[in-house]
Amino acid sequence: MSKQIEVQNVRFHYTDEEGNRLSGDVLKGVSLEIEKGSFTAVLGHNGSGKSTLARLINGILVPTEGTVSVMGMDTRDDDLIFDIRRHVGMVFQNPDNQIVATIVEEDVAFGPENLGIDPQEIRKRVDDALRSVDMYDYRLHAPSQLSGGQKQRVAIAGIIAMRPDCIILDEPTAMLDPRGRREVMETISMLNREYGITVILITHYMDEAVKADRVVVMDDGNIILDNTPDKVFTKPELLQAVGLDVPQASELLWELKNAGLPAEVNAIDEASCVEAVMKLFD
Ligand SMILES: Nc1ncnc2c1ncn2[C@@H]1O[C@H](COP(=O)(O)OP(=O)(O)OP(=O)(O)O)[C@@H](O)[C@H]1O
Ligand SMILES: [Mg+2]
Repeated sequence: MSKQIEVQNVRFHYTDEEGNRLSGDVLKGVSLEIEKGSFTAVLGHNGSGKSTLARLINGILVPTEGTVSVMGMDTRDDDLIFDIRRHVGMVFQNPDNQIVATIVEEDVAFGPENLGIDPQEIRKRVDDALRSVDMYDYRLHAPSQLSGGQKQRVAIAGIIAMRPDCIILDEPTAMLDPRGRREVMETISMLNREYGITVILITHYMDEAVKADRVVVMDDGNIILDNTPDKVFTKPELLQAVGLDVPQASELLWELKNAGLPAEVNAIDEASCVEAVMKLFD
């Protein structure tokens, strides 16, 4: 696997147009490498710097110190920023702020149109993208008639139609009901698994982070944990120390252990939790 995104020793504070400082150090020396085709979840308490990191990777912001490069392209290079944005798509929390057109398929076409792609190719990409998020049947609907989960899938289709190598999703399910969350999570997993798109998912939901193959935990501008989900989520004391929950499965085993039962805190999903509980009865 090759490195797609490299964040090296990045420090960052917000400034206004005149360069006056607007914040303290929001990132305090962050380094992170993302491999092509990987699925990384980023967790962290409010204000820990997750969205700032996402904006730095997409080139919306540039580091105060250190470097961010996307497929070898430095985000500080103004000539490359268009190319960088084409490679790294962003999906935000509120689907209503991302939908610009009054018909679903026109909305999905908007991104590729801006890239100057020819109309025939756009037609094909729009249809493919809508099929991939399972919204093709709604292509002539008005976005305002859709559920939150459906709107968010249309927003994702708009990004997919630009054929990015990587998608960063900043709390894409935060405003959705449980069904919408499930639909969007299934779509994200599928894009990673079947299309090989690199996924960086910022989330507050532990059960979503469990789906990733790597979990990065941020706290106060630093990365404090970076490991596979089973390694990260079986350390509830560490997560709780930085104000995060643990998935229900590990939480239950942790409580059983604290209650004096010989439970092993080794499960992060329901099936392996059931197995661990059954062992208590052996
Ligand atoms: N435009 C801005 N100007 C000044 N400070 C900012 C700006 N945007 C964010 N900050 C500050 O930077 C810090 C990190 O914010 P950021 O949005 O990256 O955190 P986050 O981890 O995404 O939080 P949340 O979970 O609430 O989305 C916070 O202290 C925030 O107040
Ligand atoms: Mg944020």
